[in-house]
Amino acid sequence: KKSVSQGGVMDLPQHVLVVPSPAQGHVKPLMKLAYNLAYHGIKVTFANSQFVEANILAAMSEADKEQCPIRLVSYSDGLEACPEERNGPGLITSLEERNGPGLITSLKEVMPKNVEKLIEQINQPDNKEPITCVIGDLTAGWTLEVARKMGLKQVAVWPAGPASLALALRIPQLIEAGVIDENGMCSTKSIPGKPALQKILFDFSLAINQVVKNPIIVLCNTYYELDSSSCAMIPGILPIGPLPAISNLNPCSGSFLSQDSTCLSWLDKRPPNSVIYIAFGSTAVFSQKQFDELALGLELSGHSFLWVVRPNIVSGSSHEYYPDNFLERIASRGMIVKWAPQEKVLAHPSISCFFSHCGWNSTMEGVSNGVPFLCWPYLWDQFDNKKYICEMWKVGLALDCDEDGIISRHEIKTKIHNLVTNDGMKMNAKKLMEDAKKSVSQGGGSYENFKSLVKYLGA
Ligand code: UDX
Repeated sequence: KKSVSQGGVMDLPQHVLVVPSPAQGHVKPLMKLAYNLAYHGIKVTFANSQFVEANILAAMSEADKEQCPIRLVSYSDGLEACPEERNGPGLITSLEERNGPGLITSLKEVMPKNVEKLIEQINQPDNKEPITCVIGDLTAGWTLEVARKMGLKQVAVWPAGPASLALALRIPQLIEAGVIDENGMCSTKSIPGKPALQKILFDFSLAINQVVKNPIIVLCNTYYELDSSSCAMIPGILPIGPLPAISNLNPCSGSFLSQDSTCLSWLDKRPPNSVIYIAFGSTAVFSQKQFDELALGLELSGHSFLWVVRPNIVSGSSHEYYPDNFLERIASRGMIVKWAPQEKVLAHPSISCFFSHCGWNSTMEGVSNGVPFLCWPYLWDQFDNKKYICEMWKVGLALDCDEDGIISRHEIKTKIHNLVTNDGMKMNAKKLMEDAKKSVSQGGGSYENFKSLVKYLGA
Protein backbone atom coordinates (compact mmCIF):
# COMPACT_ATOMS: atom_id res chain seq x y z
CA LYS A 1 0.00 0.00 0.00
CA LYS A 2 1.15 3.52 -0.87
CA SER A 3 1.40 6.19 1.80
CA VAL A 4 1.24 9.97 1.91
CA SER A 5 2.71 12.58 4.14
CA GLN A 6 0.53 15.59 3.51
CA GLY A 7 -2.07 17.32 5.67
CA GLY A 8 -0.83 15.49 8.73
CA VAL A 9 -1.85 12.12 7.29
CA MET A 10 1.02 9.64 7.53
CA ASP A 11 1.28 6.09 6.29
CA LEU A 12 -2.29 5.89 5.10
CA PRO A 13 -3.31 4.41 1.76
CA GLN A 14 -4.21 6.91 -0.95
CA HIS A 15 -7.89 7.61 -1.38
CA VAL A 16 -9.08 10.11 -3.99
CA LEU A 17 -12.45 11.87 -3.99
CA VAL A 18 -13.53 13.00 -7.47
CA VAL A 19 -16.09 15.83 -7.55
CA PRO A 20 -17.57 17.02 -10.88
CA SER A 21 -19.87 19.96 -11.56
CA PRO A 22 -23.42 18.60 -11.58
CA ALA A 23 -23.90 18.50 -15.37
CA GLN A 24 -23.71 15.74 -17.97
CA GLY A 25 -20.71 17.14 -19.89
CA HIS A 26 -18.73 17.14 -16.63
CA VAL A 27 -19.85 13.99 -14.84
CA LYS A 28 -19.17 11.71 -17.78
CA PRO A 29 -15.52 12.63 -18.46
CA LEU A 30 -14.68 12.77 -14.74
CA MET A 31 -16.17 9.33 -14.27
CA LYS A 32 -14.06 8.03 -17.10
CA LEU A 33 -11.02 9.54 -15.40
CA ALA A 34 -12.08 7.89 -12.13
CA TYR A 35 -12.39 4.48 -13.85
CA ASN A 36 -8.91 4.89 -15.35
CA LEU A 37 -7.43 5.77 -11.95
CA ALA A 38 -9.15 2.82 -10.28
CA TYR A 39 -7.83 0.57 -13.03
CA HIS A 40 -4.33 1.76 -12.12
CA GLY A 41 -4.79 0.85 -8.47
CA ILE A 42 -5.94 4.15 -6.97
CA LYS A 43 -8.86 3.94 -4.55
CA VAL A 44 -11.54 6.30 -5.87
CA THR A 45 -14.79 7.63 -4.43
CA PHE A 46 -16.99 9.71 -6.72
CA ALA A 47 -19.28 12.40 -5.27
CA ASN A 48 -22.40 13.51 -7.12
CA SER A 49 -25.31 15.60 -6.00
CA GLN A 50 -28.15 13.28 -4.94
CA PHE A 51 -30.16 14.35 -7.95
CA VAL A 52 -27.37 13.52 -10.41
CA GLU A 53 -26.61 10.23 -8.69
CA ALA A 54 -30.25 9.13 -8.92
CA ASN A 55 -30.17 9.76 -12.69
CA ILE A 56 -26.91 7.90 -13.16
CA LEU A 57 -28.03 4.88 -11.18
CA ALA A 58 -31.35 4.76 -13.04
CA ALA A 59 -29.45 4.76 -16.35
CA MET A 60 -26.90 2.09 -15.37
CA SER A 61 -27.55 -1.59 -15.99
CA GLU A 62 -27.25 -4.01 -13.08
CA ALA A 63 -24.10 -5.44 -14.67
CA ASP A 64 -22.55 -1.95 -14.88
CA LYS A 65 -23.36 -1.36 -11.23
CA GLU A 66 -21.77 -4.66 -10.21
CA GLN A 67 -18.62 -4.00 -12.21
CA CYS A 68 -18.31 -0.35 -11.17
CA PRO A 69 -14.74 -0.05 -9.84
CA ILE A 70 -15.41 3.13 -7.89
CA ARG A 71 -17.59 3.94 -4.90
CA LEU A 72 -20.44 6.36 -5.59
CA VAL A 73 -21.51 8.75 -2.84
CA SER A 74 -23.83 11.73 -2.88
CA TYR A 75 -24.64 15.00 -1.16
CA SER A 76 -27.65 17.33 -1.25
CA ASP A 77 -27.59 20.32 -3.60
CA GLY A 78 -30.34 21.96 -1.54
CA LEU A 79 -32.60 22.39 -4.57
CA GLU A 80 -35.21 19.86 -3.49
CA ALA A 81 -37.82 22.62 -3.26
CA CYS A 82 -37.20 24.08 -6.74
CA PRO A 83 -36.86 21.18 -9.18
CA GLU A 84 -37.21 23.55 -12.17
CA GLU A 85 -33.63 24.66 -11.47
CA ARG A 86 -32.56 21.18 -12.52
CA ASN A 87 -34.40 21.20 -15.77
CA GLY A 88 -34.76 18.22 -18.05
CA PRO A 89 -33.37 14.74 -17.65
CA GLY A 90 -30.88 15.63 -14.95
CA LEU A 91 -29.38 18.43 -16.96
CA ILE A 92 -28.74 21.91 -15.75
CA THR A 93 -29.99 24.31 -18.37
CA SER A 94 -30.63 27.36 -16.22
CA LEU A 95 -27.83 29.34 -14.66
CA GLU A 96 -30.07 32.20 -13.61
CA GLU A 97 -31.61 32.65 -10.18
CA ARG A 98 -35.35 32.67 -10.69
CA ASN A 99 -37.63 31.96 -7.75
CA GLY A 100 -35.31 32.99 -4.94
CA PRO A 101 -32.15 31.06 -4.07
CA GLY A 102 -31.46 28.63 -6.88
CA LEU A 103 -28.62 26.99 -8.66
CA ILE A 104 -26.10 29.79 -8.19
CA THR A 105 -26.65 29.86 -4.45
CA SER A 106 -26.47 26.10 -4.44
CA LEU A 107 -23.14 26.10 -6.32
CA LYS A 108 -21.64 28.87 -4.23
CA GLU A 109 -22.88 27.99 -0.76
CA VAL A 110 -24.85 24.76 -0.35
CA MET A 111 -22.74 22.32 -2.37
CA PRO A 112 -19.38 23.37 -0.86
CA LYS A 113 -20.79 23.04 2.68
CA ASN A 114 -22.31 19.65 1.95
CA VAL A 115 -19.20 18.25 0.23
CA GLU A 116 -17.15 19.36 3.22
CA LYS A 117 -19.60 17.55 5.53
CA LEU A 118 -19.41 14.48 3.29
CA ILE A 119 -15.61 14.37 3.57
CA GLU A 120 -15.84 14.79 7.34
CA GLN A 121 -18.27 11.88 7.49
CA ILE A 122 -15.99 9.66 5.41
CA ASN A 123 -12.86 10.72 7.29
CA GLN A 124 -14.03 9.55 10.73
CA PRO A 125 -11.07 8.92 13.05
CA ASP A 126 -11.52 5.15 12.81
CA ASN A 127 -11.48 5.12 8.98
CA LYS A 128 -8.28 3.42 7.88
CA GLU A 129 -8.65 4.77 4.34
CA PRO A 130 -9.65 8.43 4.66
CA ILE A 131 -9.85 10.75 1.66
CA THR A 132 -6.35 12.15 1.09
CA CYS A 133 -6.85 14.01 -2.18
CA VAL A 134 -9.67 15.78 -4.04
CA ILE A 135 -9.77 15.80 -7.81
CA GLY A 136 -12.11 18.72 -8.42
CA ASP A 137 -13.78 20.17 -11.47
CA LEU A 138 -12.24 23.58 -12.14
CA THR A 139 -15.63 24.90 -13.24
CA ALA A 140 -16.63 24.16 -9.63
CA GLY A 141 -13.51 25.71 -8.11
CA TRP A 142 -15.08 25.39 -4.65
CA THR A 143 -14.28 21.67 -4.72
CA LEU A 144 -10.60 22.57 -4.61
CA GLU A 145 -11.14 25.31 -2.02
CA VAL A 146 -12.82 22.77 0.27
CA ALA A 147 -9.87 20.40 -0.18
CA ARG A 148 -7.37 23.15 0.55
CA LYS A 149 -9.25 24.20 3.67
CA MET A 150 -9.28 20.59 4.91
CA GLY A 151 -5.55 20.08 4.28
CA LEU A 152 -6.06 17.56 1.47
CA LYS A 153 -4.09 17.26 -1.74
CA GLN A 154 -5.77 18.98 -4.71
CA VAL A 155 -5.79 18.20 -8.41
CA ALA A 156 -7.96 20.20 -10.83
CA VAL A 157 -9.72 18.93 -13.95
CA TRP A 158 -10.70 21.20 -16.82
CA PRO A 159 -13.53 19.41 -18.60
CA ALA A 160 -13.43 21.56 -21.75
CA GLY A 161 -10.68 22.37 -24.25
CA PRO A 162 -7.40 24.10 -23.36
CA ALA A 163 -8.24 27.19 -25.45
CA SER A 164 -11.22 28.10 -23.27
CA LEU A 165 -9.11 27.74 -20.12
CA ALA A 166 -6.27 29.77 -21.61
CA LEU A 167 -8.82 32.50 -22.34
CA ALA A 168 -10.28 32.39 -18.82
CA LEU A 169 -6.79 32.69 -17.35
CA ARG A 170 -6.10 35.76 -19.48
CA ILE A 171 -9.10 37.73 -18.15
CA PRO A 172 -7.05 39.71 -15.59
CA GLN A 173 -4.61 40.77 -18.34
CA LEU A 174 -7.46 41.68 -20.67
CA ILE A 175 -8.93 43.90 -17.94
CA GLU A 176 -5.53 45.42 -17.23
CA ALA A 177 -4.94 46.11 -20.92
CA GLY A 178 -8.37 47.77 -21.13
CA VAL A 179 -9.74 45.27 -23.66
CA ILE A 180 -12.63 44.46 -21.30
CA ASP A 181 -13.84 46.11 -18.10
CA GLU A 182 -14.37 44.50 -14.66
CA ASN A 183 -17.81 43.32 -15.75
CA GLY A 184 -16.55 41.61 -18.85
CA MET A 185 -17.79 44.31 -21.23
CA CYS A 186 -15.71 45.02 -24.33
CA SER A 187 -14.17 48.46 -24.17
CA THR A 188 -12.56 48.51 -27.61
CA LYS A 189 -13.82 51.15 -30.04
CA SER A 190 -15.23 48.65 -32.50
CA ILE A 191 -17.60 46.87 -30.11
CA PRO A 192 -18.04 49.10 -27.04
CA GLY A 193 -20.36 47.90 -24.28
CA LYS A 194 -20.85 44.41 -25.68
CA PRO A 195 -20.38 41.53 -23.25
CA ALA A 196 -17.26 39.60 -24.22
CA LEU A 197 -18.66 36.62 -22.36
CA GLN A 198 -22.10 35.96 -20.89
CA LYS A 199 -21.98 37.63 -17.43
CA ILE A 200 -22.41 34.42 -15.51
CA LEU A 201 -19.65 32.72 -17.48
CA PHE A 202 -17.46 35.76 -16.99
CA ASP A 203 -17.87 35.44 -13.21
CA PHE A 204 -17.08 31.73 -13.36
CA SER A 205 -14.04 32.36 -15.52
CA LEU A 206 -12.79 35.04 -13.16
CA ALA A 207 -13.25 32.69 -10.20
CA ILE A 208 -11.06 30.08 -11.92
CA ASN A 209 -8.17 32.54 -11.70
CA GLN A 210 -8.42 32.47 -7.90
CA VAL A 211 -8.08 28.68 -7.83
CA VAL A 212 -5.24 28.47 -10.33
CA LYS A 213 -3.39 31.22 -8.42
CA ASN A 214 -1.97 28.46 -6.21
CA PRO A 215 0.29 26.03 -8.07
CA ILE A 216 -1.93 23.15 -9.02
CA ILE A 217 -2.00 20.31 -11.56
CA VAL A 218 -4.73 20.91 -14.14
CA LEU A 219 -5.79 17.74 -15.96
CA CYS A 220 -7.19 18.29 -19.42
CA ASN A 221 -8.91 15.91 -21.80
CA THR A 222 -6.69 16.65 -24.77
CA TYR A 223 -3.29 15.70 -26.09
CA TYR A 224 -0.57 18.32 -26.27
CA GLU A 225 -0.09 18.41 -30.04
CA LEU A 226 -3.78 19.01 -30.68
CA ASP A 227 -3.51 22.58 -29.36
CA SER A 228 0.05 23.11 -28.18
CA SER A 229 -0.17 26.92 -28.15
CA SER A 230 -3.11 26.95 -25.70
CA CYS A 231 -1.51 24.20 -23.56
CA ALA A 232 1.67 26.26 -23.37
CA MET A 233 -0.30 29.17 -21.87
CA ILE A 234 -1.67 27.16 -18.92
CA PRO A 235 0.54 26.71 -15.88
CA GLY A 236 0.34 23.21 -14.40
CA ILE A 237 -1.55 21.70 -17.33
CA LEU A 238 -1.31 17.93 -17.72
CA PRO A 239 -2.95 16.80 -20.97
CA ILE A 240 -4.06 13.18 -20.44
CA GLY A 241 -6.60 12.67 -23.22
CA PRO A 242 -8.27 11.10 -24.93
CA LEU A 243 -8.56 8.71 -22.00
CA PRO A 244 -9.05 5.14 -23.17
CA ALA A 245 -12.12 3.12 -22.31
CA ILE A 246 -11.30 0.44 -19.75
CA SER A 247 -11.73 -2.91 -21.46
CA ASN A 248 -14.76 -4.92 -20.38
CA LEU A 249 -16.12 -2.04 -18.31
CA ASN A 250 -18.80 0.15 -19.80
CA PRO A 251 -16.96 3.33 -20.82
CA CYS A 252 -20.22 5.20 -20.86
CA SER A 253 -21.16 5.02 -17.20
CA GLY A 254 -22.06 8.46 -16.00
CA SER A 255 -24.82 9.02 -18.54
CA PHE A 256 -27.94 10.67 -17.11
CA LEU A 257 -30.14 8.81 -19.59
CA SER A 258 -29.93 5.12 -20.38
CA GLN A 259 -28.13 4.45 -23.63
CA ASP A 260 -30.07 2.73 -26.36
CA SER A 261 -27.68 0.07 -27.62
CA THR A 262 -30.09 -1.25 -30.26
CA CYS A 263 -28.58 1.33 -32.59
CA LEU A 264 -25.30 -0.63 -32.58
CA SER A 265 -26.89 -3.71 -34.16
CA TRP A 266 -28.70 -1.38 -36.59
CA LEU A 267 -25.30 0.08 -37.53
CA ASP A 268 -23.89 -3.45 -37.99
CA LYS A 269 -26.27 -3.89 -40.93
CA ARG A 270 -25.14 -0.73 -42.73
CA PRO A 271 -22.25 -0.52 -45.21
CA PRO A 272 -18.97 0.94 -43.95
CA ASN A 273 -18.71 4.72 -43.95
CA SER A 274 -22.37 5.30 -44.85
CA VAL A 275 -24.21 6.65 -41.79
CA ILE A 276 -24.35 10.22 -40.50
CA TYR A 277 -24.42 10.38 -36.69
CA ILE A 278 -26.28 13.42 -35.34
CA ALA A 279 -26.08 14.34 -31.65
CA PHE A 280 -26.06 17.68 -29.87
CA GLY A 281 -24.91 16.79 -26.35
CA SER A 282 -26.92 17.48 -23.25
CA THR A 283 -27.87 21.15 -23.33
CA ALA A 284 -28.65 22.29 -26.88
CA VAL A 285 -32.34 22.99 -27.63
CA PHE A 286 -34.05 23.84 -30.92
CA SER A 287 -37.11 25.82 -31.91
CA GLN A 288 -39.77 23.72 -33.60
CA LYS A 289 -39.02 25.46 -36.91
CA GLN A 290 -35.31 24.68 -36.62
CA PHE A 291 -36.03 21.09 -35.63
CA ASP A 292 -38.27 20.68 -38.71
CA GLU A 293 -35.57 22.03 -41.03
CA LEU A 294 -33.05 19.65 -39.51
CA ALA A 295 -35.36 16.68 -40.02
CA LEU A 296 -36.13 17.68 -43.60
CA GLY A 297 -32.47 18.39 -44.36
CA LEU A 298 -31.52 14.90 -43.21
CA GLU A 299 -34.28 13.48 -45.37
CA LEU A 300 -33.25 15.55 -48.41
CA SER A 301 -29.63 14.43 -48.06
CA GLY A 302 -30.65 10.91 -49.05
CA HIS A 303 -28.12 9.43 -46.58
CA SER A 304 -28.65 6.92 -43.80
CA PHE A 305 -28.56 8.53 -40.39
CA LEU A 306 -28.62 7.83 -36.67
CA TRP A 307 -30.11 10.81 -34.83
CA VAL A 308 -30.14 11.38 -31.07
CA VAL A 309 -33.34 13.23 -30.14
CA ARG A 310 -33.18 13.82 -26.39
CA PRO A 311 -36.38 14.43 -24.43
CA ASN A 312 -37.00 18.21 -24.30
CA ILE A 313 -34.70 18.96 -27.23
CA VAL A 314 -37.43 21.13 -28.76
CA SER A 315 -37.92 24.24 -26.63
CA GLY A 316 -41.27 24.60 -24.94
CA SER A 317 -42.43 21.14 -25.88
CA SER A 318 -42.36 17.87 -23.97
CA HIS A 319 -42.84 15.87 -27.20
CA GLU A 320 -40.96 15.87 -30.43
CA TYR A 321 -43.18 16.79 -33.36
CA TYR A 322 -41.69 15.57 -36.59
CA PRO A 323 -42.82 16.92 -39.96
CA ASP A 324 -45.89 15.12 -41.35
CA ASN A 325 -45.16 11.48 -42.23
CA PHE A 326 -41.44 12.07 -41.71
CA LEU A 327 -40.95 8.96 -39.59
CA GLU A 328 -42.65 6.74 -42.18
CA ARG A 329 -40.63 8.23 -45.04
CA ILE A 330 -37.23 7.77 -43.38
CA ALA A 331 -37.97 4.42 -41.72
CA SER A 332 -35.80 2.37 -44.10
CA ARG A 333 -32.66 4.46 -43.65
CA GLY A 334 -32.96 6.48 -40.47
CA MET A 335 -32.87 5.54 -36.80
CA ILE A 336 -33.79 7.87 -33.94
CA VAL A 337 -32.85 7.21 -30.32
CA LYS A 338 -33.24 9.22 -27.12
CA TRP A 339 -29.63 8.72 -26.04
CA ALA A 340 -26.91 6.67 -27.73
CA PRO A 341 -23.77 4.90 -26.52
CA GLN A 342 -21.93 7.72 -28.30
CA GLU A 343 -18.35 6.53 -27.97
CA LYS A 344 -19.24 3.10 -29.33
CA VAL A 345 -21.27 4.68 -32.14
CA LEU A 346 -18.39 6.92 -33.20
CA ALA A 347 -16.04 3.95 -33.22
CA HIS A 348 -18.38 1.98 -35.50
CA PRO A 349 -17.09 1.48 -39.08
CA SER A 350 -20.48 2.41 -40.57
CA ILE A 351 -20.25 6.00 -39.33
CA SER A 352 -19.18 8.45 -42.02
CA CYS A 353 -19.40 11.78 -40.16
CA PHE A 354 -20.48 13.42 -36.94
CA PHE A 355 -23.09 16.19 -37.05
CA SER A 356 -22.31 17.83 -33.70
CA HIS A 357 -22.82 20.84 -31.43
CA CYS A 358 -19.04 20.73 -30.78
CA GLY A 359 -19.16 20.25 -27.00
CA TRP A 360 -15.64 19.43 -25.89
CA ASN A 361 -16.34 15.80 -25.00
CA SER A 362 -18.02 15.21 -28.33
CA THR A 363 -15.16 16.97 -30.08
CA MET A 364 -12.56 14.71 -28.46
CA GLU A 365 -14.66 11.60 -29.05
CA GLY A 366 -14.94 12.51 -32.77
CA VAL A 367 -11.23 13.32 -33.02
CA SER A 368 -10.18 10.06 -31.37
CA ASN A 369 -12.35 8.08 -33.77
CA GLY A 370 -11.18 9.86 -36.92
CA VAL A 371 -14.57 11.13 -38.09
CA PRO A 372 -15.07 14.45 -39.88
CA PHE A 373 -17.57 16.92 -38.38
CA LEU A 374 -20.50 19.02 -39.43
CA CYS A 375 -20.52 21.81 -36.87
CA TRP A 376 -23.57 23.41 -35.32
CA PRO A 377 -22.42 25.04 -32.06
CA TYR A 378 -25.05 26.11 -29.58
CA LEU A 379 -23.39 27.94 -26.69
CA TRP A 380 -20.30 28.53 -24.52
CA ASP A 381 -16.99 27.10 -25.73
CA GLN A 382 -18.67 25.28 -28.61
CA PHE A 383 -18.12 28.21 -31.01
CA ASP A 384 -14.39 28.16 -30.35
CA ASN A 385 -14.31 24.37 -30.67
CA LYS A 386 -15.96 24.76 -34.06
CA LYS A 387 -13.16 27.11 -35.14
CA TYR A 388 -10.55 24.56 -34.16
CA ILE A 389 -12.41 21.80 -36.01
CA CYS A 390 -12.96 23.80 -39.20
CA GLU A 391 -10.05 26.24 -39.37
CA MET A 392 -7.15 24.79 -37.38
CA TRP A 393 -7.48 21.03 -37.82
CA LYS A 394 -9.51 21.19 -41.05
CA VAL A 395 -11.65 18.20 -40.17
CA GLY A 396 -15.08 19.78 -40.47
CA LEU A 397 -17.50 22.16 -42.12
CA ALA A 398 -19.69 24.75 -40.41
CA LEU A 399 -23.33 25.37 -41.25
CA ASP A 400 -24.52 28.87 -42.09
CA CYS A 401 -27.80 30.48 -41.01
CA ASP A 402 -30.15 32.23 -43.42
CA GLU A 403 -31.30 35.82 -42.80
CA ASP A 404 -33.92 34.61 -40.28
CA GLY A 405 -31.26 32.90 -38.20
CA ILE A 406 -32.41 29.46 -39.36
CA ILE A 407 -30.18 26.75 -40.79
CA SER A 408 -32.22 25.64 -43.76
CA ARG A 409 -32.83 22.10 -44.99
CA HIS A 410 -30.98 23.01 -48.21
CA GLU A 411 -27.93 24.21 -46.31
CA ILE A 412 -27.95 20.95 -44.34
CA LYS A 413 -28.26 18.85 -47.47
CA THR A 414 -25.49 20.79 -49.27
CA LYS A 415 -23.03 20.66 -46.37
CA ILE A 416 -23.63 16.95 -45.81
CA HIS A 417 -22.88 16.36 -49.47
CA ASN A 418 -19.77 18.58 -49.38
CA LEU A 419 -18.47 16.83 -46.29
CA VAL A 420 -18.98 13.22 -47.28
CA THR A 421 -17.35 13.84 -50.68
CA ASN A 422 -14.35 15.66 -49.16
CA ASP A 423 -11.50 13.12 -49.08
CA GLY A 424 -9.02 15.68 -47.74
CA MET A 425 -11.02 16.18 -44.58
CA LYS A 426 -11.42 12.45 -44.09
CA MET A 427 -7.65 12.07 -44.34
CA ASN A 428 -7.06 14.91 -41.87
CA ALA A 429 -9.50 13.28 -39.45
CA LYS A 430 -7.69 9.92 -39.71
CA LYS A 431 -4.39 11.69 -39.09
CA LEU A 432 -5.76 13.30 -35.89
CA MET A 433 -6.98 9.88 -34.78
CA GLU A 434 -3.51 8.41 -35.30
CA ASP A 435 -1.93 11.30 -33.35
CA ALA A 436 -4.42 10.77 -30.52
CA LYS A 437 -3.67 7.04 -30.44
CA LYS A 438 0.06 7.68 -30.36
CA SER A 439 -0.34 10.08 -27.47
CA VAL A 440 -2.15 7.55 -25.28
CA SER A 441 0.14 4.65 -26.23
CA GLN A 442 3.27 3.75 -24.31
CA GLY A 443 5.84 6.55 -24.70
CA GLY A 444 3.21 9.07 -25.91
CA GLY A 445 2.64 12.40 -24.15
CA SER A 446 -0.78 11.69 -22.62
CA TYR A 447 0.30 8.17 -21.63
CA GLU A 448 3.35 9.47 -19.78
CA ASN A 449 1.35 12.30 -18.20
CA PHE A 450 -1.25 9.85 -16.91
CA LYS A 451 1.52 7.67 -15.51
CA SER A 452 3.00 10.64 -13.68
CA LEU A 453 -0.47 11.52 -12.33
CA VAL A 454 -0.86 8.01 -10.93
CA LYS A 455 2.59 8.29 -9.39
CA TYR A 456 1.77 11.68 -7.90
CA LEU A 457 -1.49 10.41 -6.43
CA GLY A 458 0.17 7.32 -5.06
CA ALA A 459 3.20 9.16 -3.65
C1 UDX B 1 -21.25 20.87 -22.03
C2 UDX B 1 -20.77 21.87 -23.09
O1 UDX B 1 -21.68 21.83 -24.17
C3 UDX B 1 -19.39 21.58 -23.54
O2 UDX B 1 -19.02 22.50 -24.52
C4 UDX B 1 -18.47 21.61 -22.36
O3 UDX B 1 -17.16 21.44 -22.79
C5 UDX B 1 -18.92 20.55 -21.37
O4 UDX B 1 -20.27 20.77 -21.00
P1 UDX B 1 -22.51 18.92 -23.43
O5 UDX B 1 -23.45 19.85 -24.09
O6 UDX B 1 -23.12 17.87 -22.63
O7 UDX B 1 -21.39 19.55 -22.54
O8 UDX B 1 -21.61 18.28 -24.63
P2 UDX B 1 -20.35 17.37 -24.60
O9 UDX B 1 -19.19 18.05 -23.96
O10 UDX B 1 -20.15 16.92 -25.99
O11 UDX B 1 -20.73 16.12 -23.69
C6 UDX B 1 -21.78 15.26 -23.99
C7 UDX B 1 -21.43 13.87 -23.52
O12 UDX B 1 -22.62 13.09 -23.59
C8 UDX B 1 -20.39 13.19 -24.38
O13 UDX B 1 -19.42 12.54 -23.57
C9 UDX B 1 -21.18 12.16 -25.18
O14 UDX B 1 -20.49 10.94 -25.42
C10 UDX B 1 -22.36 11.90 -24.28
N1 UDX B 1 -23.52 11.51 -25.07
C11 UDX B 1 -24.13 12.38 -25.91
C12 UDX B 1 -23.94 10.20 -24.98
O15 UDX B 1 -23.36 9.38 -24.24
N2 UDX B 1 -25.01 9.84 -25.73
C13 UDX B 1 -25.66 10.68 -26.55
O16 UDX B 1 -26.63 10.27 -27.19
C14 UDX B 1 -25.21 12.01 -26.65
